[in-house]
Formats: sequence, C-alpha cells, structure tokens
Amino acid sequence: MSLLPILRFPDARLRTVATPVREVDESIRRLARDMAETMYEAPGIGLAATQVDVHKRVIVIDASETRDQLLTLINPEIIEQDGRQTCEEGCLSVPGIYDKVERAEHVIVRYLDLDGGEQTIEAVGLLAVCLQHEIDHLQGRVFVEHLSQLKQLRIRNKLAKQARITA
Ligand code: NI
Repeated sequence: MSLLPILRFPDARLRTVATPVREVDESIRRLARDMAETMYEAPGIGLAATQVDVHKRVIVIDASETRDQLLTLINPEIIEQDGRQTCEEGCLSVPGIYDKVERAEHVIVRYLDLDGGEQTIEAVGLLAVCLQHEIDHLQGRVFVEHLSQLKQLRIRNKLAKQARITA
C-alpha cells in the first residue's frame, strides 16, 4: 500500500470529470486500498479518486466515529434523493477551509463493490452529505463551488497565501 499525493484546490485537475470503471480488477482494488490508506492517514472521512489525480469513478468513505466502517464505492450514482440539510463541510483538497453547504437529507446510491457486485446504500445525515460531496468530486466539482463567488475568491486568496508560506 502507499500514500497518494492529494491535489489542492484550485488545481485545474480537480475539474476533470471521472470516467466509469469498466471492470473491477486488481488495479482498481489496489487504487481503492491506497485511497483508503491516504484518507485515514490525512485524516479525512472521504476521498474521491479525482483528488489523487486518477480520473475513474471510485470513492472511499468512513464517516464512523470508530474509523472502522470503510465504504468503497465504484461507479456510484445517486438514484434517489430528497429533503434538505445544511452541514459544515471541509475537504482534504481545500485544507483549513470549512463552510456550510446545503444538500439532500436522504440519498440512495447505486454502486459496484470491490468484487464488482451491484449494491445500493441508503443514507441520511453525515453519510448522505459525504456521499454527495465525494460524488461531486467525480463530476469535477469541489464543495467550495457551492458557495458564493465572493467566498470562493476569499478562499482562493487564503489558499494562495498558505501556499506561499509553505513554499
Ligand atoms: Ni472533498
């Protein structure tokens, strides 16, 4: 297993739309394992392949307090959603930035598991937010793009400043 470098907003590669996985093979399983290790190490509660510059529809999530409920979703698609909730979100690609985003309260997501089997998961609350946030990444969308233009500009400036200090 290995840790993967995470792209930072506003890196243009984060805007890439991921393509569906054709076959769940050993290379996809290895990618998913490396993504999970990277997510736990960060630490974060979700990671999309887009964030590690692999543009395939793969996400990993662990929204549990105990950090032992790993979910790997291949080709995830939201097939039902309803209700509204607002949650403060963060993202490993946007370090140090947290803001409120409105999303569906309840979602049903269809996906393939690591054996290529078709599954569905129904989620509310934090897990539902997490699923929507990660599936957004696969469409090339980062959570800050749900915020106002003014807030996005402030975030870009703040991150550019951080990058200068770190460099
Ligand atoms: Ni994110």
